[in-house]
Amino acid sequence: MGSKNMRIGILSAGGDCPGINAAIRGVGKTAIVQYGMDVVGIINGFNGLVEKETIELNEQLLSGILTLGGTILGTSRLKPFKNIEGEAPHTKPDLIKKHYMELGLEALVCIGGNGTQKTADLLAQEGLNVVGIPKTIDNDIWGTDMTFGFDTAVHIATEAIDRLHTTANSHKRVMVIEVMGHHAGWIALNSGVAGGGDVILIPEITHDLNLVAECLLERSRKKKPYSIVVVGEGIQKQSKKSAGVFIAKQIKKLTGLETRETILGYIQRGGSPTATDRILATRLGAFAAELIHERKFGTMVAIQNGEIVSIPLSDVGGKIKLIDPTTNHLVKEGRHMGVCFGDCL
Ligand code: F6P
Repeated sequence: MGSKNMRIGILSAGGDCPGINAAIRGVGKTAIVQYGMDVVGIINGFNGLVEKETIELNEQLLSGILTLGGTILGTSRLKPFKNIEGEAPHTKPDLIKKHYMELGLEALVCIGGNGTQKTADLLAQEGLNVVGIPKTIDNDIWGTDMTFGFDTAVHIATEAIDRLHTTANSHKRVMVIEVMGHHAGWIALNSGVAGGGDVILIPEITHDLNLVAECLLERSRKKKPYSIVVVGEGIQKQSKKSAGVFIAKQIKKLTGLETRETILGYIQRGGSPTATDRILATRLGAFAAELIHERKFGTMVAIQNGEIVSIPLSDVGGKIKLIDPTTNHLVKEGRHMGVCFGDCL
């Protein structure tokens, strides 16, 4: 069966990240130019399918968006399979199925993180023709070596750490910087190494604050004028405070060293994607359109060892890709160079 005039929908859901527009463009242009499909943009993630809010996408609308941060389609964190109190069971999935049919869709591309891929899998189980595209600055999606958004976030965090070095040096301070990453430490580890962090705390390595303090005091005894501590937001801590604020306070208390904290926050998620993220998003988007043409549904596109591949959505849902500190090269190399991960001196 040919794909000409096949109608496909695209949505972006969950937290945004740089590169989503490049992926939308990759899917849309390939679908239109190569396969003659009609492309419908779904507004604000799964919410747009519940509310039937859409926009017809053409080549003109897909032009000039490659370099844009955010998502032209908008996003939401709506989880349609999660029932809210007082709602009849399965209301939103039923509406999504109804509107998918009424819109004449024959396939749906879901661009999103772990939660989105799980929902995409559930919709596939409900009989919708779904292809997932992984995205997140956190780089924590199972089955793909890298997600777009991550490279941009690491660049931004690294630049921030670079800037902290000079002010830390002037004032002879300990500078704590908290970066994003949710339950995973990929941004902290990569920006920490790229930015020359002295201490890197990630959720995957349980730290002992006394060891962190000892490492900082030892640097001070060796007449190192300042120290940089990079903290992943998801580290284990005995407080509701942000990880950066908590760690800075503990360091002050345990070492007496003058300490300041910076919470980098949403700056890591905004703005134009790096060339690496644009290329990855474009390749994944183009391949998603190819999979639809070949009617390979219930799949997620991924990059593995440099190759763009597809894997079953059912393999991805409910999993998370964390750093394995026992095998990760950056952890090993960092340790060899004296980076403190808070678990030993
Ligand atoms: O998953 C991406 C991410 O930016 C995480 O790093 C962060 O914990 C979270 O989203 C913040 O989400 P929200 O947009 O809901 O504040």
